[in-house]
Amino acid sequence: MTTRHPLPAPFSTSTTPLTLITQGAEALLYKTTFLTPTTPAALKIRPSKPWRHPTLDKRLTRQRILAEARVLAKCKKEGVSVPAVLALDWENGWTVCEWVEGVTVKEALRGRDVAQEGELRKLLEAIGQAVGRLHACGVVHGDLTSSNMMIRRAPSQSQSQKEDKGTGSPSSSLEGEIVLIDFGLATQATQEEDRAVDLYVLERAFGSTHPREEGLFEECMLGAYGGSYKAARGTLRRLEDVRMRGRKKSMLG
Ligand SMILES: Nc1ncnc2c1ncn2[C@@H]1O[C@H](COP(=O)(O)OP(=O)(O)OP(=O)(O)O)[C@@H](O)[C@H]1O
Ligand SMILES: [Mg+2]
Repeated sequence: MTTRHPLPAPFSTSTTPLTLITQGAEALLYKTTFLTPTTPAALKIRPSKPWRHPTLDKRLTRQRILAEARVLAKCKKEGVSVPAVLALDWENGWTVCEWVEGVTVKEALRGRDVAQEGELRKLLEAIGQAVGRLHACGVVHGDLTSSNMMIRRAPSQSQSQKEDKGTGSPSSSLEGEIVLIDFGLATQATQEEDRAVDLYVLERAFGSTHPREEGLFEECMLGAYGGSYKAARGTLRRLEDVRMRGRKKSMLG
């Protein structure tokens, strides 16, 4: 992949290898190493937006980087499975996080065999529990999709996953720990409504990206969520209201 964005210091002069993983609307994600040549790390760069006023641009970049890092630090402290923040620089717009060895849930589901229903159920339950733990500590993700959650693989599994990557087909195993990533839109919110909207976003994203798996979503993912923290049942009831509003809106066009 090539990029139009020049790298910020110190990465512009570093001899550390950088591999571009994704180039989203807001950020570039590279795989690199940190402190030692054998410690893999994820470098997320938010390039400056030349069309924005420079003062505003700097302020927004700083706010987003700090907000994302604060939420990640809070999650780590509360035992939610997220990548650790290793370093950041809001002036130059980058964050380095622990590298999660594995694949996104989206990649894993796309590569799975239809026969793996038992594994699929377990995966959906693990997602429900992970989102429940997140909500229990007062954080709302803001962009829950299957590409913003990863399945951490044991080293032996990730070896076969690397081999799979080479052939373009991600490993089909659905086993591993769920790690939530991409907290660029996360907020520290304690309102039931915010949590219900978070689930609704996930439900909608899941339904459109993984129509084959949609049937098990409610039973497994929301089932596990419901038992994951004290106020979860209330959030699920609120989700019904959010869905209702969603349906009315789509009926009106
Ligand atoms: N810590 C990590 N370890 C391994 N891979 C990661 C890590 N963070 C991100 N990735 C990979 O990079 C992809 C993009 O990362 P991320 O979702 O954080 O960026 P983005 O969607 O471009 O961000 P934004 O929504 O802020 O624009 C992920 O889908 C995942 O494949
Ligand atoms: Mg993302």
